[in-house]
Amino acid sequence: MLTGKHVLLIIGGGIAAFKTLDLIRRLREQGAQVTPILTKAAEEFVTPLSVSALAGTKVYRDLFDLTDEAEMGHIQLSRVADIVVVAPATADLMAKMAQGLANDLASTLLLATDTPVLIAPAMNVRMWEHPATRRNAEQLRQDGVAFVGPNAGDMACGEFGPGRMSEPLEIVAAISQQFEKGPLSGRKILVTSGPTHEPIDPVRYIANRSSGAQGTAIAKALMAQGAEVVFITGPADVPPPPDAQVVRVETALEMQEAVRAALPVDAGVFAAAVADWRVASASDQKLKKSLDGLPVLSFAENPDLLREVSRMSEGRPPLVVGFAAETDDVVAHATAKRIRKGCDWIVANDVSPATGIMGGSENAVTVIDANGVDVWPRMSKDQVAQRLAARIADHFSQAGDH
Ligand code: CTP
Repeated sequence: MLTGKHVLLIIGGGIAAFKTLDLIRRLREQGAQVTPILTKAAEEFVTPLSVSALAGTKVYRDLFDLTDEAEMGHIQLSRVADIVVVAPATADLMAKMAQGLANDLASTLLLATDTPVLIAPAMNVRMWEHPATRRNAEQLRQDGVAFVGPNAGDMACGEFGPGRMSEPLEIVAAISQQFEKGPLSGRKILVTSGPTHEPIDPVRYIANRSSGAQGTAIAKALMAQGAEVVFITGPADVPPPPDAQVVRVETALEMQEAVRAALPVDAGVFAAAVADWRVASASDQKLKKSLDGLPVLSFAENPDLLREVSRMSEGRPPLVVGFAAETDDVVAHATAKRIRKGCDWIVANDVSPATGIMGGSENAVTVIDANGVDVWPRMSKDQVAQRLAARIADHFSQAGDH
């Protein structure tokens, strides 16, 4: 319930604005008080009258509305709420927020507020994936703005992909979550995920079958428990969680740099399938077929990131969790791997092709720590992630060193 909570709802100008009418209704059902702000563009999609009728209150629209200034200045308006919610957060609004512009009522309130801000982005998939929007999203995350969505799916513009605004109930849940302090709130956790690509030449590379599904699910589950997640991912099939701080890399060496830059953290979860070797003889130019026979590739060993972090003499994360992808004698190999790498827990799984785990949606894992072996039944990767996040939360609450 959101009884007694005051939500300042900034409605941006996108087709998804119509969903905010339902959002207002849902918020009020939960006992929240909603003060709506309409941008000029939003008025093209919803009328001030319908918004005001549903919110049961006045709608604020113009920065220079003198009556409002007399009633309540915009600075005061930005402070009365317990949370500011922007839905839909258009690419334009996000850009303004990231830049700190204040040229209308919505952007001025966002710059002046001292309450938490949650945004529900909605835009065409190309706009969402544009480097400018990605930069802005990253900036906003660093500024402490929380995100809900966007979801992937069919879009009003006829395209498919991430960009759809979250559904009203998802936004209500995300708002509620802002008021609940999860057991991992205040914890910064690093998650590596996906495969790495090791170039042979500018157009060819060596990779593996990791989809990034398990790492992504873990990042989402940790965030659902309140953790701040730095998600370092190789080129995965599964899109990264939209509300994590995402660092995209290609190679193991780039991943090493990103991991080092993310430290210090409270915990590291190393779910990436990092290539063990890179091509030492990688060419700057595309290798040509030649009459002299087949190309000969020579390899160099990649750094072992899990081992490096586990064995740090200073600033080692208090909890380091590794994965062990095995095809035989899973527990014995994983137990030895935990000792060899120096991590605290190892999550072992059988990736032999018959299990369908690598690239599939399910996983059957065994968690090994200094106290023993914990065999989990086969379940979805999301459930594995939730159980692992709960185990991490439990570990910290028992350690009680917050
Ligand atoms: N890992 C890593 N850096 C590497 C290789 C692996 O951080 N260069 C991490 C993985 O993210 C995983 C764990 O180490 O958490 C084990 O990965 P795995 O491929 O099972 O082990 P390897 O060290 O490659 O051992 P082997 O291939 O001999 O089984």
